[in-house]
Amino acid sequence: MEALRIISEEHRNLWRIATTVDHLADELDGGTAAVDVPFFTSVFDYLEHFIDRAHHPKEDDFLFRRLRQRSDAAGPLLDQLEAEHRQGPGNLATLRAALAATASGALGNQAFATTLRAYTSGLKGHIRTEEKEILPLARQALTGDDWHDIDRAFLDNSDPLFGEKVQGEFRELYHRVVSLAPESVGLGSHEAGVLAAGEAAPRGDLLMSVRGVQSAYGRIQALKGIDLEVRRGELVALVGANGAGKTTLLRAISGVQPLTAGSIHFDGQDITGLRSDLRVRRGISQVPEGRQVFGPLSIEDNLRLGAYTQPAANLAEDMERVYAMFPILKEKRHLPAGTLSGGQQQMLAIGRALMARPKLLLLDEPSMGLAPLLVEEVFNVVKTLKSQGMTIFLVEQNAFAALAIADRAYVLETGNTTLSGSGQELLNNEQVRAAYLGM
Ligand SMILES: Nc1ncnc2c1ncn2[C@@H]1O[C@H](COP(=O)(O)OP(=O)(O)OP(=O)(O)O)[C@@H](O)[C@H]1O
Ligand SMILES: [Mg+2]
Repeated sequence: MEALRIISEEHRNLWRIATTVDHLADELDGGTAAVDVPFFTSVFDYLEHFIDRAHHPKEDDFLFRRLRQRSDAAGPLLDQLEAEHRQGPGNLATLRAALAATASGALGNQAFATTLRAYTSGLKGHIRTEEKEILPLARQALTGDDWHDIDRAFLDNSDPLFGEKVQGEFRELYHRVVSLAPESVGLGSHEAGVLAAGEAAPRGDLLMSVRGVQSAYGRIQALKGIDLEVRRGELVALVGANGAGKTTLLRAISGVQPLTAGSIHFDGQDITGLRSDLRVRRGISQVPEGRQVFGPLSIEDNLRLGAYTQPAANLAEDMERVYAMFPILKEKRHLPAGTLSGGQQQMLAIGRALMARPKLLLLDEPSMGLAPLLVEEVFNVVKTLKSQGMTIFLVEQNAFAALAIADRAYVLETGNTTLSGSGQELLNNEQVRAAYLGM
């Protein structure tokens, strides 16, 4: 059911774009500032190329067609969805015309905002119908052979409509949207940079194992016996609600939170009693919750601090590597870190952790508090690091995004891991869908 994963991932991107547009529509309502033509043009380009030319045809031709054959109940809904698909190009033409009229002064900001909202509410309703009704139906009604055919079509990298080449173009378009996004939602830079993905590392031997770990704050038992493991090259996610103990576990792994029972082995050694700075030297590097960059220090000095365990000879080279990944940090390297936007601070926090040349990167809710467009950028960064061979333990409340990119994942509920499996299995697990994905 790779096709369903791909569709849901695409829905999430579209949902983020729609949410961003809603946010900007609210801003337009309240103000008289000139409408940002390049930004909206980039959004409309993305929607046209991505939804109308690839996402919808792919659904119509493969998934919907097969589902019609297998389920009579799906018929009327599919009729409705396909009719909406056909309206897509017309809707976009309306949006483009409204943008031009607003730019020339013929249409007021408020009227443009109304047009934008009409579009996004249609798009969101459409996505909701697919996620809540069609995809579950497809899961039930389609056979193994059906999925084999559909998945093969969806994964066809040479397909001219949605193969590898156009996927690259979509990514470029998406980066363009992000880089043109106004300060209130974007990176505030026209140089977001395209991350070059490397080859995926083969999954290797055991890098970390956590056994029976317990930890408490006074009488509050925050961790009640955690067992989990991370293999070299893996991206393992830990998802769970507020207060489940995610941060406590990361702090226990970093060595800043005492254990009351259990053990932690890392890279072949028992590190249960090891001091936190020595764990950094062994290769465990944490990107803390809420980023915690040193606001008054320059960006460059923040990165330097991340390298305190490293020989001075590595410094320049490692810093260049971080700057290549996040050009905006280089541009602003002499400025205090406190002047960066939330998304930029997250990039800095990740860069700082990378300066320690970690073998295991611990990420604590990197998407927290970020505008929807930036959430996607942060997860792109995580994906890229993984593809370059980094081993990553990712803690997230944003279960959807985390499970979508994880090799394996654990669900944490009030101090206990209650479920584990591949990211995909958990994404499809009814319990997880109900509890974390709001579906
Ligand atoms: N410093 C502290 N003193 C006392 N109790 C704490 C402290 N930090 C966390 N706790 C408690 O420990 C439990 C686990 O908290 P933790 O911060 O690890 O959860 P979390 O899963 O990271 O949550 P969030 O998603 O909100 O970051 C919660 O019940 C919390 O109230
Ligand atoms: Mg936390």
